[in-house]
Amino acid sequence: MEFAAESCLLHKSVFFIILMSLCLSAFMGAYSRTENLSMNQNSESSSPFPSNFLFGTATSSYQVEGAFSSDGKGLSNWDVFTHKPGKIMDGTNGDIADDEYHQYQEDVGLMEEIGVNSYRFSISWARILPKGRFGKVNKQGLDYYDRLINALLRKGIEPFVTLTHFDIPQELEDRYQSWLSPKIQEDFKYYADICFKKFGDRVKYWVTINEPNVAVIRGYRIGIWPPSRCSASFGNCSHGNSEKDPFVAAHNLILSHVSAVQLYRTKYQKKQGGEIGIVMDAIWFEPFSNSLEDKLAAERAQSFFLNWFLDPIILGKYPSEMKEILGQDLPEFSKYEVEKLKKNGIDFIGVNHYTSYYAKDCFFSECEPGSGASKTEGFALYVHDKNGISLGDKTTVDWLYVRPQGLEKMVTYLKERYNNLPMFITENGYGEVEDPNSTTRDIVNDVQRVNYLSSYLNSLAKAIRKGADVRGYFVWSLLDNFEWKYGENVRFGLHHVDYGTLNRTRRLSALWYKHFIAQNLPHKPPTLSIL
Ligand code: BGC
Repeated sequence: MEFAAESCLLHKSVFFIILMSLCLSAFMGAYSRTENLSMNQNSESSSPFPSNFLFGTATSSYQVEGAFSSDGKGLSNWDVFTHKPGKIMDGTNGDIADDEYHQYQEDVGLMEEIGVNSYRFSISWARILPKGRFGKVNKQGLDYYDRLINALLRKGIEPFVTLTHFDIPQELEDRYQSWLSPKIQEDFKYYADICFKKFGDRVKYWVTINEPNVAVIRGYRIGIWPPSRCSASFGNCSHGNSEKDPFVAAHNLILSHVSAVQLYRTKYQKKQGGEIGIVMDAIWFEPFSNSLEDKLAAERAQSFFLNWFLDPIILGKYPSEMKEILGQDLPEFSKYEVEKLKKNGIDFIGVNHYTSYYAKDCFFSECEPGSGASKTEGFALYVHDKNGISLGDKTTVDWLYVRPQGLEKMVTYLKERYNNLPMFITENGYGEVEDPNSTTRDIVNDVQRVNYLSSYLNSLAKAIRKGADVRGYFVWSLLDNFEWKYGENVRFGLHHVDYGTLNRTRRLSALWYKHFIAQNLPHKPPTLSIL
């Protein structure tokens, strides 16, 4: 389907090839000029990326699969949420999404065409366990992921699998309020066990949880995502406590994560030889000014956003700033839990990085009333503009500002704080609001996305050259997909999706990425465990 548009529009295809060549030469030229090639780690290609680097694309189950009630799948929290009026900006939902559940072979073909050697996707928990551990395992769900994994491996594409990417069985919400209850730790471990056992012979990269920081902030602090909980002063919710619930939910997410890691380490890792980590949303925070107060605010912003999870998981305790500011509202780990955390750790940090913010002090200084900075963010106010100038190029997506140097700074910060633990950039990408009047040419000619990816990869290369142990990079996303609160309106894909026909159309960025990978990874690793 992807090529249908091109065959009908031959003249356009010629135009695109010429355009692509011009753009690619310009971009690759710019890229080479900015790199110090004498420092490269991949001697054959003069690339700063190691020769076993994973170059991939990423998606998640709810955003691409569709088939929301097919073949025994149970309802997830997102199925229920999106069906409530007014929750999604354009009124759409993920019932069909990209229909990857039925079109996975075609999507694997798109990946093969680009030349990626890895695909990051997530398993829908409710497809495997429609009722959590209170019901049966859905064999048809297991079969689907078997088919997908095998199709990837046949093409030499390494599966990089997330156990939960925001979607969980609704049953767990209805029974005991999901992440607010410690009971979820058992459920998550039970589910992880099924996945490790069934797929671990072929999956060598496991992510326990995607962006738990975003899940709790949006679900429990400002209430714009399920389970729609917040205090009245933080949003429009009928129940919840924004100063307590996010920290309780986070605590259970951390302990659920470590239960799955402990299980993997003791029961599977030796035999299966894989690695396990967690994926965090990682925003880079620049101090708003050179004042000591703003510098401290930037540090607090990072602690309350990122180290909130990574410190306990890697260092066995919450950041001290959090303890000082939150006091009793921050749950405590028992001695046994601290031991469990310290003993299990993670093999890698998954870094989802898109943008940067300024952090402005509201702790020592008086901030504008109603500015939004509260103790839940460590009294650090996030802003994009300073004296009317934004810290990066604005995009049509309200939160996305282009600031490539943020990636180098983020990776370097993580390298220093966590003793250069291996990292994967598990998401990075450029979104845009689609103009309903766009022509096919506008849609596929995504020069801004190419610029964004090129500049962020350049920034990543700098961090790698300075010694950061980064082992892979995944573009978000393989194709346009259901973008949560924004619905189908915001698009991140290397391929355009027509939601009427489900046709995929390759964008210029896909061709650019293909070229980039070929330049930087001349030899694809051998096909893994051919089935
Ligand atoms: C999430 C994705 C999302 C992307 C773009 C990430 O925070 O993991 O699910 O689509 O950002 O907003």
